[in-house]
Amino acid sequence: MKALPTGWKLFFSLAALTLLMTAAVLATYPAGSADALRSAIRATARSSFAMFLLTFLASALVTLLPGALSRQLLRERRYLGLAFAFSHTVHGVLIYLYAQGFPELFWAGRTAVANIPGSVGYLFILLLALTSFKAPTRLLGPRLWKGLHSTGTWVLAGVFCLSFYKRIPMGGWYPLAFALMFAAIVLKLIAKQARRLRGATPTPAH
Ligand code: HEM
Repeated sequence: MKALPTGWKLFFSLAALTLLMTAAVLATYPAGSADALRSAIRATARSSFAMFLLTFLASALVTLLPGALSRQLLRERRYLGLAFAFSHTVHGVLIYLYAQGFPELFWAGRTAVANIPGSVGYLFILLLALTSFKAPTRLLGPRLWKGLHSTGTWVLAGVFCLSFYKRIPMGGWYPLAFALMFAAIVLKLIAKQARRLRGATPTPAH
């Protein structure tokens, strides 16, 4: 873990990897095609999911598996969270290009109502990213900040759960992805309960 970048270096490395991955996926399809955009949308959802899981589980892992690695993960949580927000911004830009370029495909079998969970997810991503900086954090105060970050994290976990759950009938990796998100939620709840039973001071936020 020591050899890995930390802080802003970690953020910029993950952001660069996300852009490289997106470019590589787009390059494997005919330029500007719907398939290219859809594949890149799926790829960025998956890179976001990986970073979200680490951010979501950081405090639970410190409780359940204390050690240098989990503490390091918790220290880097802010940068992982911001890298998740970056990856999901790319997801959003690609969705915009897809909806603009191929409205008939984008709206096929989709209603405005179906976009509500994703839109709420984006609202929380924006709020969590903005309040990851000093000035807005001070403005909110620790109680509100904690409430917002905890609520936002659970809402995003819910959106991931729902996105994967809807796709379970498609088979492939979707049942595994849903099981991963579900197991992470259970693990987080167990850690919360363990902290309560130990009467320990809770780890900061989430
Ligand atoms: C209104 C906002 C959103 C729209 C319109 C949207 C749209 C899409 C589209 C078109 C796909 C690709 C579908 C396909 O070709 O199979 C997709 C995949 C996905 N999106 Fe989004 N999305 C939104 C927000 C979000 C948010 C906030 C999250 C999570 C926090 C999310 C998680 C996912 C996941 C997990 C997938 C599936 C990835 C996979 O195939 O493994 N989306 N989304």
